[in-house]
Amino acid sequence: MPIQFLKEQQLFLLETDHTAYSILLASHGQLLHTYWGEKLPFPDDYPGKPLNVAHSAFGTWGNDLASEFPVPYNVLEIEPCVRLRFADGTRDLRLSYVEHHIDDDSLTIDLKDEFYGLTLRLAYQVFADCDIMTRRVSLVNTGHDSVRLDEVLSGSLLLPDDKGDFRLSHLSGAHMVEFQLDREPVQPGRKVVEGRQNYTGHTNNPFFAIDMTGPLGATETSGEIWYGGLAWSGNWKIVVEQIRSHRKRTRVAVGINDWDFEWELKAGETFETPWLVFGYSATGFGPVSRNLHKYQIEHILPARFAHDLRPVLYNSWEAVFFDVTEAAQMRIATKAAKLGVELFVVDDGWFGERHSDNAGLGDWEVNPVKFPRGLGPLIQHVNDLGMMFGIWVEPEMVNPNSNLYRAHPEWAYHYPNRVPTEARNQLILNLSRDDVQEYLFGVLDSLLANHNIAYVKWDYNRAISEAGSAEAPATNQREHWVRHYQGLYRLVDRLRERHPDVLFESCSGGGGRVDMGIMAHFDQFWTSDNTDPLDRLPIQQGFGLAYPAKTMFSWVTDMNNNAAPYSLRYRFLSSFMGGLGIGSNLHHFSDEQMQEAAHWVAEYKRLRPIIQGGELYRLNPLDDQPERKDAYAVGYVAKDKSQAVIIALDRTSHFWRNPRRLRLEGLEPNTLYRLSGDLADREPGQLSGQALRTRGILPRLEGELAAALISIEKAG
Ligand code: DGJ
Repeated sequence: MPIQFLKEQQLFLLETDHTAYSILLASHGQLLHTYWGEKLPFPDDYPGKPLNVAHSAFGTWGNDLASEFPVPYNVLEIEPCVRLRFADGTRDLRLSYVEHHIDDDSLTIDLKDEFYGLTLRLAYQVFADCDIMTRRVSLVNTGHDSVRLDEVLSGSLLLPDDKGDFRLSHLSGAHMVEFQLDREPVQPGRKVVEGRQNYTGHTNNPFFAIDMTGPLGATETSGEIWYGGLAWSGNWKIVVEQIRSHRKRTRVAVGINDWDFEWELKAGETFETPWLVFGYSATGFGPVSRNLHKYQIEHILPARFAHDLRPVLYNSWEAVFFDVTEAAQMRIATKAAKLGVELFVVDDGWFGERHSDNAGLGDWEVNPVKFPRGLGPLIQHVNDLGMMFGIWVEPEMVNPNSNLYRAHPEWAYHYPNRVPTEARNQLILNLSRDDVQEYLFGVLDSLLANHNIAYVKWDYNRAISEAGSAEAPATNQREHWVRHYQGLYRLVDRLRERHPDVLFESCSGGGGRVDMGIMAHFDQFWTSDNTDPLDRLPIQQGFGLAYPAKTMFSWVTDMNNNAAPYSLRYRFLSSFMGGLGIGSNLHHFSDEQMQEAAHWVAEYKRLRPIIQGGELYRLNPLDDQPERKDAYAVGYVAKDKSQAVIIALDRTSHFWRNPRRLRLEGLEPNTLYRLSGDLADREPGQLSGQALRTRGILPRLEGELAAALISIEKAG
């Protein structure tokens, strides 16, 4: 039973295959957190009450610091999950338990402020075989007056306070440097990791992992970790807060960012937060990633393609930028087909007056000079070559130099008395407006209905400014942040419903909008505009920490930020770590390079079921020693453990460096596996699963920018 209410102890007990979480229904009708960690054999093993809290006139009274969902009651010492104002100016909540419902793997607990008629529903879900739980909250206004919400977080997670000192790992970055791993000790005070620019953000990603500092720190295979993320693409925040009261108490509060947020909850209305996804690992960072990946593939990704292999694509963006024409795209498509590409994508530049980033966004009609016969002949050509056809759009944006903006300047976010700030010469459309959603649905629906389009790359290329609209009441403008994403999710879902066989990729100047919220509506992500194969390795590792390989698109291009002599082998093997794309200018490839590229595409297709459908094992520590910083190795193990693949890339192999043996977990210990590919001299041709885990194997990585690919399959 994943969820039980233990009557005698008045304890809600949530259990996955290996983890547990418990909440006490205390005598005064409050919910107190009591446990988050390893699953224990018997219900009586779980603590029946929270650790004692010393009360003082200078601390928080009434609200125990172990509250399952801290809300302001008089004052509150810690980050509250709700801040609100009732019509009479009262700003606290007096909540008591009303009822709960358990339905197999989901639980709701209703609490109510009787005086004002506000119900707070905590919802939990248990995904037992993923070792993942989720929680969110709904506020239902059952009173007569509107309530002003200033903050509603999805939840606050209390960590054990007797474990030692904690370390926070999170992902930060910038355009072209996404998903960099940052680590720091958790100290008394607050650390806020957030996005507040109307998209998930290149700067931070809504993911956290907390383990211990020092010798108890987790590795890939050992140590305790409490981790999670938020399923939301608009403004978000994760607050890691520690106070010294009694013992050091550490909490992680997660949800929609309260920065510039406000919501009028009218009588009879409900406000529902996004899901906070959380988990615990007793065995290191490897399971953190694999549990998240499994949960995301089985329970978040749109079902249509969740279990399908992603096609190898070609995209000419980096080769020709806006210079797309029917004839030129046909020529390059012919070459792409020779490589074994399965999906040919026309990127930016095919519509309106889009000759540069100065104009055209919003006018989603085919440019008649570039494509005098429309897109039809190109699509036919691509299909005749045996490839699917895909197209780029950036629907949430508008260039002031466009017919759409000239007709509807009021559709872009703006303040009535301010000049709107352009970024990349564009403004953001107000997707909280129904008419904007309808317009976009209309143009995109007819684009998809009138062409044989199998894939859409949906881009989003700027942070927001002037997040207002003259039409919305002044008091409700702070709702745009949330309404934009409600509108976007709705729009994409409507399109998917009408065009169920179209694959959708989310892009935001690379990996600016990668999160578990958008993942419910899109099938895959463009990872980074930085396609240098060496620069990408830490980006891909950070991405893989939280999100699965089949959603991480990686192109082989001509980019070289390091003036490095990259071989095609190195470029391809760097891109093998996720979904494969090619973005090189194929007209510059020699016949030999075309042949070699075709070989790598075939090789990728052979290994794709293991890479995209298997489980990821990082073979280098997350933060490696400085001299190994540019050495990355990953293993993918097929679900049935019959096959595996190892990809290892090194920047340079100095003679003084000890070569690293790669130890791969996850295979059957007593089964013999045949090894082939780039093994160092005198490495054995076969090994047991146990030996692969314990003694490991040495890849052949020699000289500068070496790349090794090793195939592993059951012998006999
Ligand atoms: C940003 C994307 O990340 C690129 O791949 C490309 O699609 C450009 N936008 C087009 O403007």
